[in-house]
This record gives sequence, structure tokens and C-alpha cells, in this order.
Amino acid sequence: MSEAKTILVTGGAGYIGSHTVLCCLQAGYEVVVLDNLSNGHREAVERVEAIAGRAATFVQGDIQDESILDRIFSSHVIEAVIHFAGLKAVGESVQKPVEYYTVNVGGTLSLLAAMERAEVCNIVFSSSATVYGIEAPTPYQESLPRGTTSNPYGASKAMIERILEDLCVSNAGWSVVNLRYFNPIGAHESGRIGEDPQGIPNNLMPFIAQVAVGRRPQLSIFGGDYSTADGTCRRDYLHVMDLAEGHVQALGYLGNKGCHAFNLGTGTPVSVLEMVHAFERVTGVAIPYQIVERRAGDLPEFWADAQLAETALGWSAKRDLDAMMEDTWRWQSANPKGFTSQ
Ligand code: NAD
Ligand code: WQD
Repeated sequence: MSEAKTILVTGGAGYIGSHTVLCCLQAGYEVVVLDNLSNGHREAVERVEAIAGRAATFVQGDIQDESILDRIFSSHVIEAVIHFAGLKAVGESVQKPVEYYTVNVGGTLSLLAAMERAEVCNIVFSSSATVYGIEAPTPYQESLPRGTTSNPYGASKAMIERILEDLCVSNAGWSVVNLRYFNPIGAHESGRIGEDPQGIPNNLMPFIAQVAVGRRPQLSIFGGDYSTADGTCRRDYLHVMDLAEGHVQALGYLGNKGCHAFNLGTGTPVSVLEMVHAFERVTGVAIPYQIVERRAGDLPEFWADAQLAETALGWSAKRDLDAMMEDTWRWQSANPKGFTSQ
């Protein structure tokens, strides 16, 4: 029997990372998680191990620390890296650009340098629909050029994609998959792991979930006068488990040399008001809301052309909006204060 392949997952204690570690364990991979716990939870990895019935190796450390990276690559035979680690709050990135470029771009460079030293040239990178920029026509297609990003967070993702492309030009041995996520929401169906943002949630779904458990009095809907049918912005929300499974599909694609980008989304846009009504319908919990001023930097609507991921990776989103709402609620109601609830 052949040995199980080992995957290094940076940021594996975070929201998308923890769900992906679970899918990797369930697919038979060995997993090493590297996370500095700046926004992740050790408990998330422990719960993943309990669900999978298998252990991962957890290393607490920073992707900017090359000695930790070298130690990981010398003590494990790493087949590929899935790289989630980084800072992700759009508004904070405008306030702290140096920190965002240092951690996201600098941290990725440290990781890539360690990979080169260890001769590991397979990487799946957490990119974002934000790299299409503010002028791109919808639905977003991978053939579009990267556009003008409107904040340092988005710019850091576009820069990293460019760096990975240059790496593939420099050395034909590299295999890179840039996964451009749209709006991941939801939680594992067990309700044991899910999104647990620190402080006031920036994103819509965790905010709705915290209103539902009484942690916040009401939702502010940012703008009701957009040129959409109901006046609120539309996004392509996808279930985090579909997204996590997309990473396992991407690992299978890594035999293809060069740099590849795939959208991971459902291909269907949903408005903020439709999100609120879907949550209320599925859970039976009312969400008080008020329509307020637009949020700076928000685009009226964007969604994925999800065809390429289906053709090339054999991936498409399977779970519908009701499942996203049900699973969010199962997680949030069982863990009203996130991982510190129990
Ligand atoms: P998250 O904050 O829950 O996960 C990121 C993890 O990385 C956390 O566990 C954090 O502790 C860890 N981390 C941060 N800096 C680190 C460092 N210097 N060294 C080691 N570990 C570090 O975020 P998430 O929502 O799971 O996002 C994962 C990735 O996907 C990020 O790169 C994010 O930019 C990208 N992404 C997220 C979304 C989204 O809507 N959530 C959309 C597109 C792309
Ligand atoms: C969705 C919609 C808001 C909160 C962000 C990043 C993007 C990507 C995913 C990483 C918008 C509205 C929100 C609230 C609201 N991340 N909203 N009230 O802005 O599409 O994308 O996360 O790459 O880069 O920009 O997601 O969940 O913040 O907002 O009305 O309290 O919900 O205005 O229309 P967004 P979001």
C-alpha cells in the first residue's frame, strides 16, 4: 500500500482552513497545520480531529518564521502546501497597510523561499474574487485580467498571484493553483466547527448569526439604493464545505505544471435582503434590520462564472442557500460565543 501524502496547511486553525483540514483528513491525506492563532483556534483543529477520527500535526508558529518552516519541511515529506494564513479584514487593511503587506506578501515570500529550499513546488493559494478589481464585468471569468483593487488586502492577493506566476515562469517544476473564492459562509453540518470572528463581524453572515443569538441588537444593511432589484448588493455566497472540497479537488490538479486560477462560487448572486429572508425562513428566527448608508468600497453586485472549475477540477457547489443557513444556525446556536462557548 502506498504511503499517505502529507499536506502542509498554513492557517489551518482558521475558518476555511479548519473545514479544509477536515476534508483532507477524510480524503486520506496526512496534515500538518501551521498557524500562529492570531485569528484561529486550537480548539477548531481538535474538533476537526474528533469529527475525522484522525489526528493532524499542529505547529503553532508564524509563516514569517523561516526556521519553523525549515523545521517542518525537514521533518515531514510535504507533497503540497495549501496556503490560507494571512490577514483578511478589508477595512483594517486600509488602516494598517504595512502590516497587511508584511504578513500577506512577506509571509508568502518566506513560505515560498522555504518551499524552494525543500524542493516542494506544489501550492494551492487562497485568492479572492477581489482580484478582478472594481471595473470587471460580471460574471467574473478567469480569462479577465486582474483589475484595480480598492484596498491593501485586495492588492496583497493580486500581488501574491503575480509572484506565483513569476515563480512558474522561473521554474517549470512549479504547480500553482490560485483559488479565487467568492463569499464563503456556513459551517460543517455537525455544528462543531464554524466561523468565529473576533470583535464585531465585518461580514454579513456572521453578523446575521450573532443578531439571531442575541449578541447584536440588529443588522445594519449597507445601502438600499443600489441598481439591483431590491436595492441591496448581490454576492455569490457559497457553502464553506463546498469550498473546502474544492481544495481537495485542487490538490488532485497539482500534477498540472504552471500557474492556474479557478473561481470557486455557485454562479448565482443573492441580495442582502434575500439573505436575511432566507435565514428567517429556514431558522424561524426574526432578524431586525435597518437600512443605513452604503459602505465605502462595496460594489453593487458580482458573482462567479463557475464553469472552469467544473470542467478542469470536476468541482461545482453542491449545497444550496437553505443548507448554508441551516448549517450556520446549527453552529451559531450550539456555540453562541464561538469556540469559547463550552
Ligand atoms: P481566518 O482568519 O479564519 O484564517 C486565517 C488563519 O491564518 C487564522 O487561523 C490565523 O490565525 C492564521 N494566520 C494569520 N496570520 C498568520 C501568520 N502570519 N502565520 C501563521 N498563521 C497565520 O480566515 P479565513 O476566512 O479562513 O480565510 C482564509 C484565507 O482565505 C485567507 O487568506 C483569506 O484572505 C482568504 N479568503 C477568505 C475569504 C472569506 O470570505 N473568508 C474570501 C476570499 C479569500
Ligand atoms: C456582503 C454584503 C455588504 C455586513 C468581503 C471582502 C472580500 C472577500 C469576502 C476575502 C455587502 C453587506 C455586510 C453588514 C451588510 N474576502 N453587509 N451589513 O464585502 O462581499 O466581501 O468578504 O477575500 O474580499 O471584501 O462580503 O460579507 O462583508 O458583505 O449590509 O453588517 O453584505 O454591504 O453588500 P463582501 P461581506
